[in-house]
Amino acid sequence: MNKIQAKISGVSGYVPDYVLTNHELEQLVDTTDEWISTRTGIKERRILKGEGQGTSVIGIESVKQLLEKTNTNPVDIDLLICATTTPDYQFPATANLIADAIGAKNAFGYDLQAACSGFIFALATGSQYIETGKYKKVVVVGADKMSSIIDYEDRSTCVIFGDGGGAVLLEPTQEDTGIIDSILRSDGAGAKHLHMKAGGSSRPANHATIDAREHFVYQEGSVVFKFAVTQMAAVAKEIMENNQLEGNDITYLVPHQANKRIIDATARTMGISNDKVMLNIDKYGNTTNGTIPLCLWNYEQKLKRDDKLILAAFGGGFTWGSIYLKWAYNS
Ligand code: ACO
Repeated sequence: MNKIQAKISGVSGYVPDYVLTNHELEQLVDTTDEWISTRTGIKERRILKGEGQGTSVIGIESVKQLLEKTNTNPVDIDLLICATTTPDYQFPATANLIADAIGAKNAFGYDLQAACSGFIFALATGSQYIETGKYKKVVVVGADKMSSIIDYEDRSTCVIFGDGGGAVLLEPTQEDTGIIDSILRSDGAGAKHLHMKAGGSSRPANHATIDAREHFVYQEGSVVFKFAVTQMAAVAKEIMENNQLEGNDITYLVPHQANKRIIDATARTMGISNDKVMLNIDKYGNTTNGTIPLCLWNYEQKLKRDDKLILAAFGGGFTWGSIYLKWAYNS
């Protein structure tokens, strides 16, 4: 009997209605549409507005849509993992809030924090529970409300990030499809280049941390850029080599959407042409854990059974990784 593999049997996405354009950002900080477009590839991003609206709103909308599309009864879900860097609360986990709202009464859930690589880490984690045979339906959510930790007076970060996310359903298969391989990496020495200075246990919130604007993303952009461009390409190349894949074998690269220049460099290293790269950074910017499910959701109609996809991401931590999977269904 073939071994059990985890296949993605459905994907969904959700972005809030409010569109924050480059032109609107020109009114907030000293920047231009031209700079943002040429340096990042971003034209607009979505913002979740409204009192009490956290990341769980994005997760709930995504999972509701996913259950409807896949005809899944919420009580049949075994596990819900939410990859997020902007949880609704320090505790409880946003996964629990999502599971409760969608009626996943028999599921356990937890959050996973790996910054922009979180969705890949969560997908690899979720697939292990399926592969052991223990669980049959695992939902993996990747969602962030980045606007909650962005300083709209800092032009080097506020132009990059947006809010949004998506979800996938993992189910077992014994056919030659689904998640084939993953490589996950992290290096805490990179923390100093990309982090939030206060609000955690080492520096709890107080008046001084608020006055010093320490509850926002701190990023040394050009340092992070150099690591991202090198490591994302290297890990994607490594997973191709481990699975005897050439550029021509791959149907789509599904890259984390942090910067179009990083994506282009990754595709070049992999020997993949631009038409085989999933891209939506122009519409949504960097939604951190949301980028990869949003790409899969946007391109779902073009995907066919047995298409070979390489997912790749790099983020704070530093964290980075890649997944090789075969798409399991025709839309
Ligand atoms: N508008 C105009 N000028 C700007 C802006 C802006 N929005 N932002 C920065 N600049 C200026 C800088 O002040 C600097 O000016 P100076 O030369 O006078 O000092 C100049 O542009 C160049 O700045 P750099 O930071 O070197 O610009 P760079 O080309 O590197 O682009 C960016 C900045 C977009 C942040 C890029 O470095 C990047 O994409 N970094 C990687 C991001 C990433 O992958 N992050 C990981 C995932 S995020 C996560 O995990 C949460």
